[in-house]
Amino acid sequence: MTALVTTVTETLRYKGAIGQWSWVLHRVTGLGVVLFFVLHVIDTSWSVFYPELYVKAIAVYQTPLFTIGEFALVAAVVYHAINGLRIAYLDYRPHLWRYQERAAWIVLAVTVAILIPVFVLMLGHVLRFYQQEGPVLGLAQVIEAQLPFVGGIAVALVVAILYSALYGLIAGERAGQPARREGSPIERLWWSFMRLSGVLIVPLVFGHLAMMHVVQGVFDITAANYVVVGTNTVNASGTAVEFVANRWNVLVGPLAIWRLYDFALLALVTLHAFNGLRYVLTDYTMSNPLLRRAMVYLCVMGAVVLLVLGTGALIGTIDETAIAMAQRAMDNLHP
Ligand code: HEM
Ligand code: HEM
Repeated sequence: MTALVTTVTETLRYKGAIGQWSWVLHRVTGLGVVLFFVLHVIDTSWSVFYPELYVKAIAVYQTPLFTIGEFALVAAVVYHAINGLRIAYLDYRPHLWRYQERAAWIVLAVTVAILIPVFVLMLGHVLRFYQQEGPVLGLAQVIEAQLPFVGGIAVALVVAILYSALYGLIAGERAGQPARREGSPIERLWWSFMRLSGVLIVPLVFGHLAMMHVVQGVFDITAANYVVVGTNTVNASGTAVEFVANRWNVLVGPLAIWRLYDFALLALVTLHAFNGLRYVLTDYTMSNPLLRRAMVYLCVMGAVVLLVLGTGALIGTIDETAIAMAQRAMDNLHP
């Protein structure tokens, strides 16, 4: 953590060229989106496993703090995606490396050009919601709802460190060696995977964000009798749980297309994000084999938990009882 802060503060002090700025921005935006992604996949699984809690999670998304976060999230995803495409394209074309600086400026310009109309449309949804309804949760409740996540991440960190210490004890001096050498065939595969997965994620994540922020807004998830984006059904109860059920029940022939779409998004983003997180965390724990190994375990644990929870939700069923439970939870939130 201190080292990550140093990366940012030293960049500010050093006032490096655009190349260094874009490296820091890529890292910071990647980390920000990972944090949101962890909360989001766990939240979404509640639509199947704990409908009342999902209603509360979406109510949290509809508060001012998260509305600001929503704009930051969209900006982070757009910058990271466009810059990621630049990296993936230029990495394979060394003869173009002399244009890196110009390319980094183009990335900034394209990001701004995308964000201006997107923010205008998002603002339309936000203003409509705040004029008509407004949030039902206060700041204290929003912060309180995040505490279990902080606790969960802390527990995962402790487990990873303990497991790493145990491995160190059993493996003896071998534990002092770095787990993987840079340049090993497996690391080269991961390097290519980061580029390939990044390119595949672009249409999926942009499509998802377009549905959830532009065509409809985060607020339309709880709009009663409103046609749910990507379906021809209405959300009769106006609960977030029925919104998800309507989307996941769309069939094109035998295929539940939004479930398949979400699965592709889940699998690609989880592997890309946690491998990216491993790069970052191991970068900052290079000199301590115990912590370095713990960071790798932490990333593996995080990826497995999200894949299991996310896939479990996608193959689950949201029935009438779940929607009725959500309806009651929503009535309690709007006394
Ligand atoms: C939208 C399309 C995306 C593209 C084109 C993309 C592209 C890339 C590329 C090319 C890298 C560099 C890998 C390397 O240096 O070897 C990278 C790193 C990373 N990505 Fe993505 N990515 C995308 C989406 C995401 C998402 C959705 C997340 C998080 C949920 C994410 C998190 C990360 C992280 C944490 C890193 C490591 C950053 C670092 O090492 O400084 N990326 N991305
Ligand atoms: C505030 C922004 C977002 C909102 C409001 C939102 C909303 C939703 C909703 C309502 C679902 C339920 C399924 C569906 O309707 O398709 C969902 C699922 C999903 N979203 Fe998002 N989304 C947001 C941002 C993102 C981002 C940035 C990512 C990727 C980096 C992402 C990845 C996913 C995945 C993987 C699933 C499936 C989860 C599962 O398997 O249980 N979402 N999202």
